[in-house]
Amino acid sequence: MTEPVLADAIAVAYIAAAVLFILALKWLSAPATARRGVRAGEIGMVLAVVGALLRHEIVSYQWILVAFFLGSAVGIPMAVFMPMTAVPQRTALSHAFGALAAALVGTAEYYLRTPTLDAFTMSALDLEMLLGFLTFTGSLMAFGKLQELLPTRPITYRGQNVVNLALLGLAVAIAIYLVWDPGATSLFPVFAGLALVFGVLLIIPIGGADMPTVISLLNSYAGLSASAMGFVLDNKLLIIAGALDGASGFILSVIMCRAMNRSFTNVLFGAFGSVQAGAAAPAGERTVRSATPEEAASILAVATSVIIVPGYGMAVAQAQHKVRELYEALTKRGIEVRFAIHPVAGRMPGHMNVLLAEAEIPYDRLVEMEEINPEFPQTDVALVIGANDVTNPAARHDTSSPIYGMPILDVDRAKTVMVIKRSMSPGFAGVENELYYMDKTLMLFGDAKAVVGEMVKALSGAAHA
Ligand code: TAP
Repeated sequence: MTEPVLADAIAVAYIAAAVLFILALKWLSAPATARRGVRAGEIGMVLAVVGALLRHEIVSYQWILVAFFLGSAVGIPMAVFMPMTAVPQRTALSHAFGALAAALVGTAEYYLRTPTLDAFTMSALDLEMLLGFLTFTGSLMAFGKLQELLPTRPITYRGQNVVNLALLGLAVAIAIYLVWDPGATSLFPVFAGLALVFGVLLIIPIGGADMPTVISLLNSYAGLSASAMGFVLDNKLLIIAGALDGASGFILSVIMCRAMNRSFTNVLFGAFGSVQAGAAAPAGERTVRSATPEEAASILAVATSVIIVPGYGMAVAQAQHKVRELYEALTKRGIEVRFAIHPVAGRMPGHMNVLLAEAEIPYDRLVEMEEINPEFPQTDVALVIGANDVTNPAARHDTSSPIYGMPILDVDRAKTVMVIKRSMSPGFAGVENELYYMDKTLMLFGDAKAVVGEMVKALSGAAHA
């Protein structure tokens, strides 16, 4: 191919990739089109990589091939073997690697091009490296906390925010100096070091509960770092893809904060989670009513409407396929069954949607929190499967509760409530759930998959009798 033709081919591949990335984000926003969105993103990425590989600046493919095989050797097992419940950690690792790549490219560009760097390119390099390095260490810390390799509780000390801000201020001051004098190479390692340390310090005061929100914020930083790299390398696709990543990560963090009724500053500086330790008050003399799966099935069999409320426990038990069987057994009897989806049920955004889609439960049966809440008072049975915090009425009225203010599913307003969980242990926020002590609540103790399986058996046995 002649050079102008090649340049045109690359430009077309980049434009197609940019359009596919935008469509991917749009399609990913609804369960019915999410698979199409993933495919569009994948095709866009293949086009982007092929386009980049065709660029005439590449003189040898040898090291690219080595990196390709090394990356695949790490990435493929991660994708195949990491369980769904570990997706937040996996995402944190991907951001760490992506951000490190951006920061290292920035470092190489700095040393190759200094002292001839113009002010604009140096500013873009500063941003790329600051965000890249801090996202690298920050994401590794987030991974360590989520994987429980590091203490999940917030680590705080007096004057922490002042220390963090001073460190960031120093890094920004050096960045500004480097714009003025790019040849000050001795300052560069100090700048990179400060960014790396800041990433660690930024994450240590944040508790495990806030980690998914922070990961999505780090995703945003990694995207912005890549976008800045696009300006340095004059690669328009990187600018677009990085900006999309930056914006979508930020929007997702905002959505998650709202769903947990938290402010951004509170997530970043509030050391949420410190209140959680020991926050679960002892149950005292209060008693709960428990029932067997067979008893629960006989109540369900005579209901006309049921709302199933899935939560993290359904994911742990991998009960989604049994839940589909239950859904089928109930709908066969003419019972209206819907699923109430809380935005932060589980441990990652869309967790319940993904599991229910995997079990092929029709999308139109999944109803978002705002829409389903007015339906609970008219519902015969609310069946909670491994959900806890997202159903806790204390969030509405108990100002001393760490989850006070978090919007919840109004499960307690249904005529009868059934809760499947293994014990009286609290959920993620570490607080007791008063829902369990209500007169109309029946506790079905056991693993969600086993209990739902028993219920299905009882329902089909009754149908055959
Ligand atoms: P949780 O409040 O964490 O409660 C899950 C419940 O599932 C536990 O009480 C546990 O009780 C039960 N469980 C665990 N394994 C089970 C099994 N095999 N079978 C049956 N039950 C089982 O879950 P949730 O209601 O989904 O709330 C999510 C929490 O995570 C919220 O606090 C939310 O703020 C937080 N969070 C969510 C996200 C996102 S993006 N989704 C991000 C960060 C934090 P037992 O141990 O007694 O069985």
